[in-house]
Amino acid sequence: MNCLVCFTLAALHCWIVGSVVSSVRGQQVWPVPYKRLDRRPDVDPYCQALYPFCPSGDPDGRIPVMSDSDNISVFRLQTPVWEFRFGDMLGKFHIMHDAIGFGSARMGRNFTMEWYELFQLGNCTFPHERAGVSAPFWCNQGAACFYEGIDDLHWKQNGTLEKIGEISGEMFNEMARWVQEDNKTGVYYETWTVKSDPGPNATTWFDSYDCSQFVHRTYKTLLDMGAELSSRTPTYYTKIYLYSGTPLYLGDDSIFHQSSMKDLATDIKKFYHSFRSHQSIVEMIESLLEAFEKMVLEKTFYFYYNSVYWKLPMKYPYIKIIFEEIPLP
Ligand SMILES: *[C@@H]1O[C@H](CO)[C@@H](O)[C@H](O)[C@H]1NC(C)=O
Ligand SMILES: *[C@@H]1O[C@H](CO)[C@@H](O)[C@H](O)[C@H]1NC(C)=O
Ligand SMILES: *[C@@H]1O[C@H](CO)[C@@H](O)[C@H](O)[C@H]1NC(C)=O
Ligand SMILES: *[C@@H]1O[C@H](CO)[C@@H](O)[C@H](O)[C@H]1NC(C)=O
Ligand SMILES: *[C@@H]1O[C@H](CO)[C@@H](O)[C@H](O)[C@H]1NC(C)=O
Ligand SMILES: *[C@@H]1O[C@H](CO)[C@@H](O)[C@H](O)[C@H]1NC(C)=O
Repeated sequence: MNCLVCFTLAALHCWIVGSVVSSVRGQQVWPVPYKRLDRRPDVDPYCQALYPFCPSGDPDGRIPVMSDSDNISVFRLQTPVWEFRFGDMLGKFHIMHDAIGFGSARMGRNFTMEWYELFQLGNCTFPHERAGVSAPFWCNQGAACFYEGIDDLHWKQNGTLEKIGEISGEMFNEMARWVQEDNKTGVYYETWTVKSDPGPNATTWFDSYDCSQFVHRTYKTLLDMGAELSSRTPTYYTKIYLYSGTPLYLGDDSIFHQSSMKDLATDIKKFYHSFRSHQSIVEMIESLLEAFEKMVLEKTFYFYYNSVYWKLPMKYPYIKIIFEEIPLP
Protein backbone atom coordinates (compact mmCIF):
# COMPACT_ATOMS: atom_id res chain seq x y z
CA MET A 1 0.00 0.00 0.00
CA ASN A 2 1.42 3.33 -1.02
CA CYS A 3 0.51 5.07 2.17
CA LEU A 4 2.59 2.80 4.34
CA VAL A 5 5.69 4.17 2.73
CA CYS A 6 4.92 7.78 3.11
CA PHE A 7 5.60 9.90 6.10
CA THR A 8 4.08 13.25 5.48
CA LEU A 9 5.10 16.61 6.68
CA ALA A 10 3.75 20.01 5.92
CA ALA A 11 5.11 23.49 5.81
CA LEU A 12 3.48 26.84 5.74
CA HIS A 13 5.53 28.37 3.03
CA CYS A 14 5.33 25.60 0.51
CA TRP A 15 3.86 27.67 -2.26
CA ILE A 16 6.63 30.19 -2.20
CA VAL A 17 9.33 27.56 -2.11
CA GLY A 18 11.24 27.68 -5.32
CA SER A 19 9.94 31.05 -6.31
CA VAL A 20 12.12 33.20 -4.09
CA VAL A 21 15.61 34.22 -5.10
CA SER A 22 18.25 32.56 -2.99
CA SER A 23 20.22 35.62 -2.19
CA VAL A 24 19.89 39.34 -2.52
CA ARG A 25 23.29 40.95 -3.13
CA GLY A 26 25.05 38.03 -1.50
CA GLN A 27 22.92 38.14 1.60
CA GLN A 28 21.46 34.77 2.56
CA VAL A 29 17.67 34.56 2.25
CA TRP A 30 15.77 32.39 4.73
CA PRO A 31 14.26 29.95 4.36
CA VAL A 32 16.77 28.64 1.86
CA PRO A 33 14.72 28.18 -1.34
CA TYR A 34 14.17 24.58 -2.36
CA LYS A 35 16.21 24.05 -5.52
CA ARG A 36 14.39 22.91 -8.64
CA LEU A 37 16.16 21.03 -11.42
CA ASP A 38 15.66 21.19 -15.18
CA ARG A 39 14.81 17.53 -15.23
CA ARG A 40 14.69 14.54 -12.92
CA PRO A 41 18.04 12.72 -12.83
CA ASP A 42 18.16 8.95 -13.27
CA VAL A 43 18.20 7.01 -10.04
CA ASP A 44 21.47 5.22 -9.26
CA PRO A 45 20.95 1.44 -9.45
CA TYR A 46 22.39 1.21 -5.93
CA CYS A 47 19.02 2.52 -4.70
CA GLN A 48 16.66 -0.41 -4.63
CA ALA A 49 13.08 0.02 -3.45
CA LEU A 50 11.80 -2.52 -0.98
CA TYR A 51 8.29 -1.70 -2.21
CA PRO A 52 7.83 -0.61 -5.82
CA PHE A 53 6.96 3.04 -6.32
CA CYS A 54 3.46 3.77 -7.64
CA PRO A 55 2.62 0.18 -8.63
CA SER A 56 -0.85 0.96 -9.93
CA GLY A 57 0.01 4.21 -11.69
CA ASP A 58 0.68 4.68 -15.39
CA PRO A 59 4.30 3.60 -16.04
CA ASP A 60 4.94 6.89 -17.86
CA GLY A 61 3.11 8.99 -15.28
CA ARG A 62 0.36 9.95 -17.71
CA ILE A 63 -2.78 11.53 -16.30
CA PRO A 64 -6.05 11.00 -18.19
CA VAL A 65 -7.37 14.02 -20.08
CA MET A 66 -10.83 15.05 -18.93
CA SER A 67 -13.45 16.65 -21.09
CA ASP A 68 -13.28 20.43 -20.55
CA SER A 69 -16.89 20.63 -19.39
CA ASP A 70 -16.61 17.69 -16.96
CA ASN A 71 -17.43 18.32 -13.30
CA ILE A 72 -14.64 16.93 -11.11
CA SER A 73 -15.06 16.49 -7.38
CA VAL A 74 -11.97 17.14 -5.27
CA PHE A 75 -11.40 15.13 -2.08
CA ARG A 76 -9.05 15.71 0.82
CA LEU A 77 -7.57 12.37 1.85
CA GLN A 78 -5.65 11.64 5.00
CA THR A 79 -4.84 8.45 6.84
CA PRO A 80 -2.63 7.53 9.79
CA VAL A 81 0.51 5.74 8.71
CA TRP A 82 1.37 4.81 12.21
CA GLU A 83 0.38 5.63 15.75
CA PHE A 84 2.58 4.55 18.58
CA ARG A 85 4.33 5.49 21.75
CA PHE A 86 8.06 5.45 22.22
CA GLY A 87 8.56 5.25 25.97
CA ASP A 88 6.97 8.24 27.59
CA MET A 89 9.38 10.63 26.06
CA LEU A 90 7.47 12.48 23.41
CA GLY A 91 3.99 11.13 23.88
CA LYS A 92 2.03 9.63 21.06
CA PHE A 93 3.02 10.27 17.47
CA HIS A 94 0.42 10.78 14.80
CA ILE A 95 2.08 10.15 11.54
CA MET A 96 -0.29 11.01 8.75
CA HIS A 97 -0.22 10.60 5.03
CA ASP A 98 -1.99 13.10 2.77
CA ALA A 99 -3.31 12.75 -0.74
CA ILE A 100 -5.91 14.25 -3.08
CA GLY A 101 -8.80 12.44 -4.70
CA PHE A 102 -10.64 13.34 -7.91
CA GLY A 103 -13.99 12.05 -9.13
CA SER A 104 -15.10 12.63 -12.74
CA ALA A 105 -18.86 12.97 -13.06
CA ARG A 106 -18.76 12.32 -16.80
CA MET A 107 -16.51 9.24 -16.71
CA GLY A 108 -17.89 7.88 -13.45
CA ARG A 109 -14.32 7.11 -12.45
CA ASN A 110 -12.20 8.39 -9.64
CA PHE A 111 -8.47 8.84 -9.03
CA THR A 112 -5.93 9.32 -6.26
CA MET A 113 -2.88 11.55 -6.44
CA GLU A 114 -0.05 11.61 -3.94
CA TRP A 115 3.66 12.41 -3.63
CA TYR A 116 6.06 10.24 -1.67
CA GLU A 117 9.55 8.81 -1.35
CA LEU A 118 10.83 6.39 -3.99
CA PHE A 119 12.85 4.53 -1.34
CA GLN A 120 11.03 5.28 1.88
CA LEU A 121 11.50 7.85 4.57
CA GLY A 122 14.64 6.40 6.14
CA ASN A 123 16.49 6.66 2.84
CA CYS A 124 15.37 10.27 2.45
CA THR A 125 16.57 11.20 5.92
CA PHE A 126 19.89 9.39 6.30
CA PRO A 127 22.50 8.45 3.68
CA HIS A 128 24.34 5.19 3.04
CA GLU A 129 28.01 4.40 3.40
CA ARG A 130 29.19 2.75 0.22
CA ALA A 131 32.43 0.88 -0.20
CA GLY A 132 34.68 2.81 -2.56
CA VAL A 133 32.54 5.97 -2.45
CA SER A 134 33.92 8.67 -0.20
CA ALA A 135 30.82 10.87 0.12
CA PRO A 136 27.67 9.74 1.95
CA PHE A 137 25.30 8.31 -0.64
CA TRP A 138 21.65 9.39 -0.74
CA CYS A 139 18.61 7.59 -2.19
CA ASN A 140 16.36 10.56 -1.53
CA GLN A 141 14.11 11.17 -4.51
CA GLY A 142 10.38 11.59 -4.09
CA ALA A 143 7.76 11.81 -6.83
CA ALA A 144 4.10 12.18 -7.70
CA CYS A 145 1.94 9.12 -8.21
CA PHE A 146 -1.43 9.28 -9.96
CA TYR A 147 -3.60 6.17 -10.18
CA GLU A 148 -7.17 5.15 -10.76
CA GLY A 149 -9.49 4.53 -7.82
CA ILE A 150 -10.11 5.90 -4.36
CA ASP A 151 -10.04 3.29 -1.63
CA ASP A 152 -12.78 4.85 0.49
CA LEU A 153 -12.46 2.46 3.40
CA HIS A 154 -8.74 2.99 3.69
CA TRP A 155 -9.04 6.77 3.97
CA LYS A 156 -12.24 6.83 6.05
CA GLN A 157 -11.09 4.47 8.77
CA ASN A 158 -9.40 6.66 11.38
CA GLY A 159 -8.61 9.17 8.66
CA THR A 160 -10.35 11.67 6.42
CA LEU A 161 -12.22 11.46 3.14
CA GLU A 162 -13.84 14.82 2.62
CA LYS A 163 -15.14 16.46 -0.52
CA ILE A 164 -13.67 19.98 -0.55
CA GLY A 165 -14.96 21.30 -3.85
CA GLU A 166 -15.56 20.85 -7.56
CA ILE A 167 -13.48 21.91 -10.54
CA SER A 168 -14.07 21.83 -14.27
CA GLY A 169 -12.40 19.27 -16.52
CA GLU A 170 -10.50 22.13 -18.11
CA MET A 171 -9.07 23.13 -14.76
CA PHE A 172 -8.17 19.53 -14.01
CA ASN A 173 -6.24 19.26 -17.30
CA GLU A 174 -4.34 22.42 -16.54
CA MET A 175 -3.53 21.10 -13.08
CA ALA A 176 -2.32 17.83 -14.63
CA ARG A 177 0.19 19.75 -16.77
CA TRP A 178 1.39 21.57 -13.66
CA VAL A 179 1.80 18.23 -11.80
CA GLN A 180 3.98 16.82 -14.61
CA GLU A 181 6.21 19.89 -14.52
CA ASP A 182 6.36 19.97 -10.73
CA ASN A 183 7.24 16.27 -10.74
CA LYS A 184 10.13 16.80 -13.14
CA THR A 185 11.67 19.75 -11.34
CA GLY A 186 11.12 19.07 -7.60
CA VAL A 187 12.75 15.69 -7.11
CA TYR A 188 14.38 15.45 -3.69
CA TYR A 189 12.46 14.65 -0.53
CA GLU A 190 13.30 16.83 2.48
CA THR A 191 12.20 15.45 5.84
CA TRP A 192 13.02 18.28 8.21
CA THR A 193 11.74 21.77 8.81
CA VAL A 194 14.49 23.77 10.54
CA LYS A 195 13.58 26.78 12.67
CA SER A 196 15.29 29.15 15.06
CA ASP A 197 12.90 28.31 17.93
CA PRO A 198 9.40 26.95 18.58
CA GLY A 199 7.86 30.42 19.11
CA PRO A 200 5.53 32.29 16.75
CA ASN A 201 8.23 34.71 15.54
CA ALA A 202 10.80 32.07 14.72
CA THR A 203 12.87 32.26 11.56
CA THR A 204 12.44 29.26 9.27
CA TRP A 205 15.87 28.25 7.96
CA PHE A 206 14.70 25.34 5.79
CA ASP A 207 11.28 24.04 4.78
CA SER A 208 10.50 20.37 4.33
CA TYR A 209 9.52 19.05 0.91
CA ASP A 210 7.19 16.12 1.23
CA CYS A 211 3.72 14.65 0.63
CA SER A 212 1.63 17.23 2.35
CA GLN A 213 3.62 20.06 0.79
CA PHE A 214 2.67 18.60 -2.56
CA VAL A 215 -0.97 18.50 -1.53
CA HIS A 216 -0.73 22.14 -0.46
CA ARG A 217 0.97 23.19 -3.68
CA THR A 218 -1.77 21.48 -5.63
CA TYR A 219 -4.52 23.23 -3.65
CA LYS A 220 -2.72 26.52 -4.19
CA THR A 221 -2.41 25.87 -7.93
CA LEU A 222 -6.14 25.12 -8.13
CA LEU A 223 -7.06 28.20 -6.10
CA ASP A 224 -4.89 30.36 -8.35
CA MET A 225 -6.90 29.03 -11.29
CA GLY A 226 -10.06 30.17 -9.57
CA ALA A 227 -11.19 26.97 -7.87
CA GLU A 228 -13.08 27.23 -4.59
CA LEU A 229 -12.02 24.67 -2.03
CA SER A 230 -13.02 24.54 1.59
CA SER A 231 -12.81 22.08 4.42
CA ARG A 232 -15.37 21.83 7.20
CA THR A 233 -12.89 20.18 9.53
CA PRO A 234 -9.51 21.47 10.71
CA THR A 235 -6.62 20.19 8.61
CA TYR A 236 -3.75 18.75 10.65
CA TYR A 237 -0.34 17.68 9.41
CA THR A 238 2.66 15.95 10.93
CA LYS A 239 5.87 17.99 10.95
CA ILE A 240 9.35 17.14 12.12
CA TYR A 241 11.23 20.17 13.38
CA LEU A 242 14.86 20.82 14.16
CA TYR A 243 15.76 23.94 16.14
CA SER A 244 19.06 25.67 15.53
CA GLY A 245 20.98 28.93 15.45
CA THR A 246 21.96 30.42 12.09
CA PRO A 247 22.96 27.55 9.78
CA LEU A 248 26.50 27.53 8.44
CA TYR A 249 27.04 26.57 4.81
CA LEU A 250 29.63 23.81 4.42
CA GLY A 251 29.62 22.72 0.77
CA ASP A 252 28.77 19.90 -1.59
CA ASP A 253 30.29 16.44 -2.05
CA SER A 254 33.66 18.03 -2.78
CA ILE A 255 34.07 18.15 1.04
CA PHE A 256 34.81 14.45 0.82
CA HIS A 257 37.40 14.75 -1.93
CA GLN A 258 39.66 17.51 -0.58
CA SER A 259 42.45 16.79 1.84
CA SER A 260 42.04 20.24 3.41
CA MET A 261 38.51 19.24 4.47
CA LYS A 262 39.45 15.84 5.86
CA ASP A 263 38.43 16.57 9.44
CA LEU A 264 35.04 17.95 8.43
CA ALA A 265 34.47 15.00 6.12
CA THR A 266 35.28 12.59 8.95
CA ASP A 267 32.95 14.44 11.31
CA ILE A 268 30.01 14.34 8.89
CA LYS A 269 30.53 10.65 8.22
CA LYS A 270 30.76 9.94 11.94
CA PHE A 271 27.53 11.84 12.48
CA TYR A 272 25.61 9.74 9.96
CA HIS A 273 27.35 6.48 10.84
CA SER A 274 25.33 6.03 14.00
CA PHE A 275 22.04 5.91 12.14
CA ARG A 276 21.44 2.38 11.00
CA SER A 277 19.47 1.58 7.89
CA HIS A 278 15.76 1.58 8.40
CA GLN A 279 13.20 -0.86 7.24
CA SER A 280 10.28 0.44 9.25
CA ILE A 281 8.86 3.74 10.41
CA VAL A 282 9.34 2.62 14.01
CA GLU A 283 13.07 2.06 13.48
CA MET A 284 13.18 5.39 11.77
CA ILE A 285 11.60 7.17 14.75
CA GLU A 286 13.89 5.30 17.12
CA SER A 287 16.80 6.69 15.15
CA LEU A 288 15.34 10.17 15.34
CA LEU A 289 15.30 9.81 19.09
CA GLU A 290 18.90 8.61 19.07
CA ALA A 291 19.60 11.67 16.99
CA PHE A 292 17.95 13.68 19.74
CA GLU A 293 20.40 12.40 22.35
CA LYS A 294 23.30 13.07 20.04
CA MET A 295 22.11 16.61 19.42
CA VAL A 296 21.75 17.35 23.12
CA LEU A 297 25.28 16.16 23.71
CA GLU A 298 27.05 17.54 20.69
CA LYS A 299 24.72 20.36 19.63
CA THR A 300 25.57 19.77 16.00
CA PHE A 301 23.50 18.44 13.18
CA TYR A 302 24.98 17.97 9.71
CA PHE A 303 22.04 18.84 7.51
CA TYR A 304 21.69 17.96 3.85
CA TYR A 305 19.46 20.17 1.66
CA ASN A 306 19.56 20.93 -2.08
CA SER A 307 22.42 18.39 -2.30
CA VAL A 308 24.75 20.45 -0.11
CA TYR A 309 25.71 20.22 3.57
CA TRP A 310 25.02 22.74 6.31
CA LYS A 311 26.08 22.73 9.93
CA LEU A 312 23.22 23.42 12.33
CA PRO A 313 24.23 24.73 15.77
CA MET A 314 21.41 22.93 17.57
CA LYS A 315 19.39 24.60 20.31
CA TYR A 316 16.85 23.50 22.87
CA PRO A 317 14.34 21.85 22.28
CA TYR A 318 16.44 20.37 19.43
CA ILE A 319 13.80 18.23 17.76
CA LYS A 320 10.02 17.97 17.82
CA ILE A 321 7.45 15.92 16.02
CA ILE A 322 4.25 17.94 15.97
CA PHE A 323 0.80 17.20 14.64
CA GLU A 324 -0.38 20.72 13.97
CA GLU A 325 -3.18 22.54 12.26
CA ILE A 326 -2.38 24.20 8.96
CA PRO A 327 -5.42 25.64 7.20
CA LEU A 328 -6.07 25.26 3.48
CA PRO A 329 -4.34 27.99 1.50
C1 LIG B 1 16.86 2.06 1.11
O1 LIG B 1 17.92 2.04 0.19
C2 LIG B 1 18.69 0.87 0.26
C3 LIG B 1 19.87 1.05 -0.70
O2 LIG B 1 19.41 1.04 -1.99
C4 LIG B 1 17.84 -0.33 -0.12
O3 LIG B 1 18.61 -1.52 0.01
C5 LIG B 1 16.64 -0.40 0.81
O4 LIG B 1 15.76 -1.42 0.39
C6 LIG B 1 15.92 0.93 0.80
N1 LIG B 1 14.90 0.86 1.81
C7 LIG B 1 13.62 0.82 1.51
C8 LIG B 1 12.71 0.67 2.69
O5 LIG B 1 13.21 0.92 0.37
C1 LIG C 1 6.69 11.41 -11.40
O1 LIG C 1 8.05 10.95 -11.58
C2 LIG C 1 8.22 9.58 -11.25
C3 LIG C 1 9.70 9.28 -11.34
O2 LIG C 1 10.18 9.52 -12.61
C4 LIG C 1 7.38 8.72 -12.16
O3 LIG C 1 7.52 7.37 -11.79
C5 LIG C 1 5.90 9.13 -12.01
O4 LIG C 1 5.11 8.41 -12.90
C6 LIG C 1 5.73 10.62 -12.26
N1 LIG C 1 4.37 10.98 -11.92
C7 LIG C 1 3.59 11.77 -12.66
C8 LIG C 1 2.21 11.99 -12.18
O5 LIG C 1 4.02 12.29 -13.68
C1 LIG D 1 -14.51 5.86 -6.12
O1 LIG D 1 -14.96 4.87 -7.01
C2 LIG D 1 -15.27 3.63 -6.37
C3 LIG D 1 -15.63 2.63 -7.48
O2 LIG D 1 -16.63 3.13 -8.28
C4 LIG D 1 -16.40 3.83 -5.37
O3 LIG D 1 -16.65 2.62 -4.69
C5 LIG D 1 -15.97 4.88 -4.37
O4 LIG D 1 -17.04 5.16 -3.48
C6 LIG D 1 -15.56 6.16 -5.07
N1 LIG D 1 -15.02 7.08 -4.05
C7 LIG D 1 -15.32 8.37 -4.03
C8 LIG D 1 -14.73 9.16 -2.90
O5 LIG D 1 -16.00 8.91 -4.87
C1 LIG E 1 -8.61 2.33 13.41
O1 LIG E 1 -8.48 2.49 14.81
C2 LIG E 1 -8.90 1.37 15.57
C3 LIG E 1 -8.87 1.73 17.04
O2 LIG E 1 -7.71 2.48 17.34
C4 LIG E 1 -8.04 0.17 15.23
O3 LIG E 1 -8.44 -0.97 15.93
C5 LIG E 1 -8.13 -0.09 13.72
O4 LIG E 1 -7.23 -1.13 13.35
C6 LIG E 1 -7.76 1.14 12.93
N1 LIG E 1 -8.01 0.91 11.53
C7 LIG E 1 -7.11 1.21 10.60
C8 LIG E 1 -7.48 0.90 9.18
O5 LIG E 1 -6.02 1.70 10.85
C1 LIG F 1 -20.72 20.42 -10.39
O1 LIG F 1 -22.00 19.86 -10.15
C2 LIG F 1 -22.66 20.38 -8.99
C3 LIG F 1 -23.97 19.64 -8.81
O2 LIG F 1 -23.75 18.26 -8.76
C4 LIG F 1 -22.86 21.86 -9.14
O3 LIG F 1 -23.44 22.38 -7.96
C5 LIG F 1 -21.53 22.55 -9.39
O4 LIG F 1 -21.72 23.92 -9.66
C6 LIG F 1 -20.80 21.93 -10.57
N1 LIG F 1 -19.45 22.47 -10.58
C7 LIG F 1 -18.80 22.78 -11.70
C8 LIG F 1 -17.38 23.30 -11.54
O5 LIG F 1 -19.27 22.64 -12.82
C1 LIG G 1 6.29 38.49 17.89
O1 LIG G 1 6.40 39.67 17.13
C2 LIG G 1 5.35 40.61 17.39
C3 LIG G 1 5.48 41.77 16.40
O2 LIG G 1 6.82 42.17 16.27
C4 LIG G 1 5.40 41.04 18.84
O3 LIG G 1 4.36 41.96 19.12
C5 LIG G 1 5.28 39.84 19.76
O4 LIG G 1 5.44 40.19 21.09
C6 LIG G 1 6.33 38.77 19.37
N1 LIG G 1 6.04 37.55 20.13
C7 LIG G 1 6.98 36.86 20.76
C8 LIG G 1 6.53 35.64 21.50
O5 LIG G 1 8.16 37.19 20.75
